[in-house]
Amino acid sequence: NRVVVIAGGLSPEREVSLRSGARVTDALRRTGVEVELRDVDKDLLPALAQDPPGVVWPVLHGIAGEDGAIKEVLELAGVPYVGARPHACRTAFDKTTAKAVLQRAGLLTPESVTLPKEAFHDLGAAELTARIVDRLGPELFVKPRAGGSAFGVSRVELAEQLPQALMACFGYHDEALIERRVTGTEIAVGVADPGDGPRALPVVEIVADGLYDYTARYTPGKVEFHCPARLPDQVAQEAARVAVAAHTALGLLDLSRTDAIVTGAGEVFVLETNVAPGMTETSTYPMALSEAGLDFGVFCRDLAAQAAH
Ligand code: DAL
Ligand code: MG
Repeated sequence: NRVVVIAGGLSPEREVSLRSGARVTDALRRTGVEVELRDVDKDLLPALAQDPPGVVWPVLHGIAGEDGAIKEVLELAGVPYVGARPHACRTAFDKTTAKAVLQRAGLLTPESVTLPKEAFHDLGAAELTARIVDRLGPELFVKPRAGGSAFGVSRVELAEQLPQALMACFGYHDEALIERRVTGTEIAVGVADPGDGPRALPVVEIVADGLYDYTARYTPGKVEFHCPARLPDQVAQEAARVAVAAHTALGLLDLSRTDAIVTGAGEVFVLETNVAPGMTETSTYPMALSEAGLDFGVFCRDLAAQAAH
């Protein structure tokens, strides 16, 4: 049952995906699985069609990978794959749509406005800033409506910083998600389902010196992680409940990672749920697996085996 791991791809998170994919490939190989690592290029589809593998694991972050596009192709080709179905991927990867689904499921997520690039030009920076600050206050996060690894994300402290934050965001997406900033402890909660239903992994607390941005994420030692998080048991349990609820509400399968902020009052505000969590040396998902006492290789092997059925 040969497994093909697809990594790399065309999104700005290409380098991260290559690192995640290499780690998953090594882990599978270590447990005796026949595995091949492939990039996304023009030879990929002919290769899959000519010699269909038992399972494909797309370890692709960002657009044309995490958004379900590759899963549509795999569905058409009749090749089993690890992770959620195309529609669920598309929903989770679109932060605006995902937030609506999470809210309907009774979960908390920061109040937000989704803004197309045109509005910036139509209204002008001053009027737009006034309207947004009037609605959400001046302490904001501006993010591309879809994307990952904090590309195009800015923290806004003062109203006058908003136009520049929007310009940075529009370099990555035509729509910006502007969120009211919720202050508290930043956490990441992995969910794993290697066959017996989705379960939360130990909560990882992220203490970044400034923004948990691209450099902070992928430079070893830049960020302090605590796993398990330094939270009261009851709050950690609530975070676990929320992560599983988000995974289920979004219709995800096999694995996901929900990123959230825990307020001083113990409320858990979901920022997003990732369909293809990073698997690099500094990523939180493998950290949480290890804290749970799960071997990364065995976990990967079980997910691949489950997908083959
Ligand atoms: N988008 C990155 C890879 C993550 O969520 O870990
Ligand atoms: Mg993300």
